[in-house]
Amino acid sequence: MKKIRKAVLPVAGFGTRILPATKTIPKEMLPVVDRPALHYVIDEAKEAGIEHFIFVTGRNKGAIEDYFDRAYELEYSLREKGKTDIYDQLNNDTPRPGSMSFVRQQSAKGLGHAIWCAREIIGNEPFAILLPDVLIKSKKSCLSQMVDAYKKVGGNIIAVDAIPHDQVSKYGVINPKKREGDIIQMSGMVEKPSPAIAPSNLKITGRYILQPEIMNILENQVAGINNEVQLTDAMVRLMQNQKFHAYEYEGKDYDCGSKLGYFEAVLAYAKDHSEIGKQARSMIKRFSQ
Ligand code: G1P
Repeated sequence: MKKIRKAVLPVAGFGTRILPATKTIPKEMLPVVDRPALHYVIDEAKEAGIEHFIFVTGRNKGAIEDYFDRAYELEYSLREKGKTDIYDQLNNDTPRPGSMSFVRQQSAKGLGHAIWCAREIIGNEPFAILLPDVLIKSKKSCLSQMVDAYKKVGGNIIAVDAIPHDQVSKYGVINPKKREGDIIQMSGMVEKPSPAIAPSNLKITGRYILQPEIMNILENQVAGINNEVQLTDAMVRLMQNQKFHAYEYEGKDYDCGSKLGYFEAVLAYAKDHSEIGKQARSMIKRFSQ
């Protein structure tokens, strides 16, 4: 079984649900307490052993690349002022040279098309996908939990979570067959079904472990719902001849691509923050009275 070393992070989206904030700032760079949302997703992937990150970017996303580069003037100034703790922190967070790649999705043709744009860098090995809109707060990182499941069952794995039935049309939804603990056998998946035809209330949460054959399928995947090339449709085809499981992770997800989800994420991370957690908790209490 090949190790999961690479992860694809599609970051080309416009962030239309939180305009005007995202007019000049990529939505992935909006701060959740003291770091961009994207930083948490990278930490989640690192904990799972990911060594190489492939960002599928678009125009106006340059801030992402800069964030992972060195900032010499800033580092010099921090050292001059003796702010060594912040300096060390920045240094620790700087990725190893060569551990990040950036490819452009030249037109907004959907998630499936974005993933396909990373095919040359993925090559012939299984890989992870993390949708950086979604932050997952958990004891053990969600992707680490999935890697553990992958070691048991191999093949392809998607993270799922139960949601209220009237919300299903916003997500990909699975058709569960048999459950063995957290691992669920499936007979199908459907992208953004209406509640009337949704096969369950288990939504696909935005974390995937996929075999490289998905790229050949995406190569000729026709556009699906919303006239976008849907990853879910390609996964349904992959499922016809490869092992495919859903994994119900432990943790809580926050949709940082929406106003309310983003706000909730800020609250959740602030209340557990090592420096401001205590004050944040009493502040939240005050507001709720
Ligand atoms: C994408 C996927 C969908 C998944 C969702 C999770 O949809 O296509 O299957 O449930 O992410 O956030 P999007 O939010 O890009 O419309």
